[in-house]
Amino acid sequence: MSLQEQLAEIKAQALAAIEASDAEKSLNDVRVKFLGKKGEITSVLRGMKDLSAAERPQAGKLANEVRDAIQSQLDEKKAALATTVLNAKLAHETVDVTLPGSPVMQGQPHVIQQIIDQLIDLFVGMGYEVATGSEVEEEVYNFEKLNLPKDHPARDMQDTFYITPSILMRTQTSPMQARMMEQHDFSKGPLKMISPGKVYRRDTDDATHSHQFHQVEGIVIGEHITMADLKGTLKAVAQNLFGDSLDVRLRPSYFPFTEPSVEADITCFNCHGDGCNICKGTGWIEALGAGMVHPNVLKMSGVDPEVYGGFAFGLGPDRFAMLKYGVEDIRNFYLNDVRFLTQFNQKG
Ligand code: PHE
Repeated sequence: MSLQEQLAEIKAQALAAIEASDAEKSLNDVRVKFLGKKGEITSVLRGMKDLSAAERPQAGKLANEVRDAIQSQLDEKKAALATTVLNAKLAHETVDVTLPGSPVMQGQPHVIQQIIDQLIDLFVGMGYEVATGSEVEEEVYNFEKLNLPKDHPARDMQDTFYITPSILMRTQTSPMQARMMEQHDFSKGPLKMISPGKVYRRDTDDATHSHQFHQVEGIVIGEHITMADLKGTLKAVAQNLFGDSLDVRLRPSYFPFTEPSVEADITCFNCHGDGCNICKGTGWIEALGAGMVHPNVLKMSGVDPEVYGGFAFGLGPDRFAMLKYGVEDIRNFYLNDVRFLTQFNQKG
């Protein structure tokens, strides 16, 4: 076979192999087989030395043409294969944007947190700081520094989860009164603080009791702070949570850490004072405990009762949420049943 014939044969075989290959890998094999260093064209070119000087240029030219033809066919096929792969991928991964999406449930603040957030907004607006404190508390702060020495009968009012004899789950947010007074620099102005958080009592859970519930403590200590300031502050709370026209009344009560102590009622938001089943016909709703901070408590926190004084209050967001939304069983707040909780969603 002449060299020309060999080249023509090689070209025909190569083009057929290219045509038949259906993957990049087999294309590469074709390239190696025909165009590679040890490939067929190279070996044909090696035979050129047997040709006469007159024949060589023509044979060389033909060899180059065959090589170029194979190379360009390889390139073309490679591009075609890539397009096929891409098209298959696109077809496989196509997203139908008209299909309905699966809805994503969006979280919301818990209804009690919503009430706490509303109170935080109100009090921060009146210049209070917010201090949350710790749910695991020292017995000294939960009781002793609040004028409740060890044998005090009022300790029975708050049955307690003890962790050790001196560490407990706080039964109230009032320990933050003592902690904040100890830290406060009164030369820089009065202490105005609220402390929202969870508290714990060894109660048997029922419709109105939960062993874990919430309180928001408030305290203002400075010079010339009076009970009128307390009443005005509580009125702001009542009106902010329940409506503008509501009033507050104070009734004498007892807490070891306040003197005098009061129970604050707010006008029934439902009947506006006429009497209904929510307020049990009285026109008033018991809302919170409060009073003027006891001189002993001030002293134990290093505050001079001759110079400084003020009020404290403790309110229950759980109770407020129950009243506001007509929830009859406090346990609903803690069961985390989304059917219950989503009723209080603020948006969407
Ligand atoms: N800590 C009291 C309670 O849990 C409420 C309270 C707070 C009363 C502050 C007076 C002042 O019952």
